[in-house]
Parts: sequence; structure tokens; C-alpha cells
Amino acid sequence: MEAMVLDADDQLHVAEIEQPDPGPDQVAIRVEFAGVQYGDVLVKRGHFPVPRPFVPGFEASGRVIAVGENVTAHHVGDAVAALTGAGAFAEVAVADAALTFGVGDLDLRVAAGFGWVTPTAHALINSLARVTPGESVLIHAAAGGVGSLAVQFARLAGATRLTGVVSTPSQIEPANQFGYDEVILASEFPERVAADQFDVILDPIGGDTRRASLERLAAHGRLVAYGNIATFAPVSVDVNELLMAGRSLLTYNSNLLSQTNPARLANSARAALALVTAGQVRIEITAEYPLSELSTAIERLSDGTGHGKNIIRIT
Ligand SMILES: NC(=O)c1ccc[n+]([C@@H]2O[C@H](COP(=O)([O-])OP(=O)(O)OC[C@H]3O[C@@H](n4cnc5c(N)ncnc54)[C@H](OP(=O)(O)O)[C@@H]3O)[C@@H](O)[C@H]2O)c1
Repeated sequence: MEAMVLDADDQLHVAEIEQPDPGPDQVAIRVEFAGVQYGDVLVKRGHFPVPRPFVPGFEASGRVIAVGENVTAHHVGDAVAALTGAGAFAEVAVADAALTFGVGDLDLRVAAGFGWVTPTAHALINSLARVTPGESVLIHAAAGGVGSLAVQFARLAGATRLTGVVSTPSQIEPANQFGYDEVILASEFPERVAADQFDVILDPIGGDTRRASLERLAAHGRLVAYGNIATFAPVSVDVNELLMAGRSLLTYNSNLLSQTNPARLANSARAALALVTAGQVRIEITAEYPLSELSTAIERLSDGTGHGKNIIRIT
């Protein structure tokens, strides 16, 4: 089969490789579309130690073509979305049955865009921050994959003031389309909201943004750190100060959760998928590339100029 392979020199190229078979608790999927996500940027930059040659790709949609011996929930021919540990940028991918979800009649392009970002955004709002009606929420990287979904889940949870922070002026309009009440530039943060406090802040940025965000939390406010787009520099906090101000710092790592408690990740995915298929949450597919242009898709994601979700057409 054809697959995109990352070689020892960090170069991506299309190669002919052996088709994988599903293990006992896995399914094999004929991939129609695969989502591009920030993890692909990190893999290409060498932030994840992966064996070479390596077939990247963490999110696939397509049809089941084989099931492992213990799998009862999926059947050959089912249309599915899968969260994979690797291998989605290939004609056939294997995925754990526990992290494969039937999508019914949902457009398979949208199903590929569902990816890790949708369960993550759902978990950040509903399981971690536990947004309740009337709360205010500030979302950094507001027009990105997670941000554009988190704002919709927060609105459904009853948040009444939703503030987005974007890195470039060109992202203001796309962010507004997802339902923010106001969108500000990262260069204006935190000065522009110096007089405000927020019940919930979602932070995939890190560094000074994380420090300043903690200062902007209201009493009983929750900041969820879930990425380090800008910097991996350590951020130290005085827990006693947080305690006196009644502020909480939470973290979320869906990759780790997929290994330690896949059932919990699957619960978030199913809850999110139900809202997507009901049309209550919109996954915006903004670009579709052929497999041969994966490097271009990853570069566009890493330069921060895109918004919504980019996918790769496989078959
Ligand atoms: N912990 C988890 O479980 C988990 C799961 C999924 C993703 N993530 C992490 O979440 C982050 C966002 O993922 P995503 O899929 O939403 O990515 P994405 O769609 O690529 O969004 C990234 C956004 O970050 C903003 N940005 C880019 N460079 C920036 C910079 N230097 N400073 C500030 N903002 C910058 C841009 O948005 P704006 O212009 O809108 O600011 C860009 O659209 C990544 O760090 C990813 O690794 C974590």
C-alpha cells in the first residue's frame, strides 16, 4: 500500500510499504481522509522520539476492512473516525477499537477533522474546567483546532461571556465566526483585559501567557494548561498564593489519557461526536490536500496562519 513515511533525515516521502493487519483489539481501516494536527508539526520538528521509518498520522476516517478477534463493536464496512497512535497517512491504518467511533452518515471529511481536537475541546470545557451557566471563558489560540471547538462547547455549557485571543489580525474574523463575544490580539493580552477576571481560561501557549493568565482568573477560576505552542520554558507557581486567591491550575494530556484510561477519552469523544452529528457543533474543514502535499499542510499549520481544520485526502 501507499503511505507517507518520515525517514531518518526528517523528510516526508510517499513510499510503498506492507499493509498492516489489526491486532486482537484493533480494526483495520481503509483511510479516506486523515486530519492534520499540531502533533504532526511536533513529530516533524523532532519533538517526539519516533522510530524510523515512521508513518505519521493520528486521526483517520474511512471504512473498516478487518477487525481483530476480540472486536465486537465494529464491523467490516462501518464508516468510522479513529484516533490512531500513528499510521493514518496511509491507504490502510490500524486503530484500537476502543478509540474508533462509528460515524453513521457524517461526511467522512468532517469525520477526519473530528480528530483529537474535538474530544480534547469537549473534555477541557466539560470534564476539566466544568463550565457552568453564566461563567466567563477566555480561550487562547482561539481560531485553532481546539479553540474553534472549545468556544462552541463552552456556549453549549451555558457560558455567557466568551473571549478569544488570536495571534494575528487575519485570525480575528475566522474566530468571530465560531461565536466569541469578543476577540483580541495576543499582543494586546493581558493589558486589554486588565480590568477583567475570568472563570475559566484555556491555555495551549505557555510561558508569560500562562503566568499572566493565572493573574486574570476570578476567585474559584480554573486555568487549564494543555499545550506549549510558544515555549516549553518552565512556569513556576506558588500554590499557597493560588489557594489564597481561590484559583486552580489544571492540566490535560489526551495522548497520555489514551494509554492510561482510553475509556475516559472515548467517553469525551462519543459525547462530542453526538453534538457534531446533531449539527450543534461545527467542525470547519478549511483545506484539503493530496497525500503528496502533506509537508505543505504541516508547514501551513506550524506558521499559525490557518484556522479550523486541515485534512489529507488519501483514497
Ligand atoms: N493536551 C492535549 O490533549 C492536546 C490535544 C490536542 C491539541 N493539543 C495542543 O493544543 C495546541 C493547539 O492545537 P490545535 O490542534 O488547536 O492547533 P492549531 O489548529 O494548529 O492551532 C494552533 C493555533 O495556535 C496559534 N498560534 C500559533 N503559533 C502561535 C504562537 N507562537 N503564539 C501564540 N499562538 C500561536 C494560532 O491560533 P490563533 O491565531 O487563533 O492564536 C494557531 O491557529 C497545540 O499545542 C497542541 O499540541 C493538546
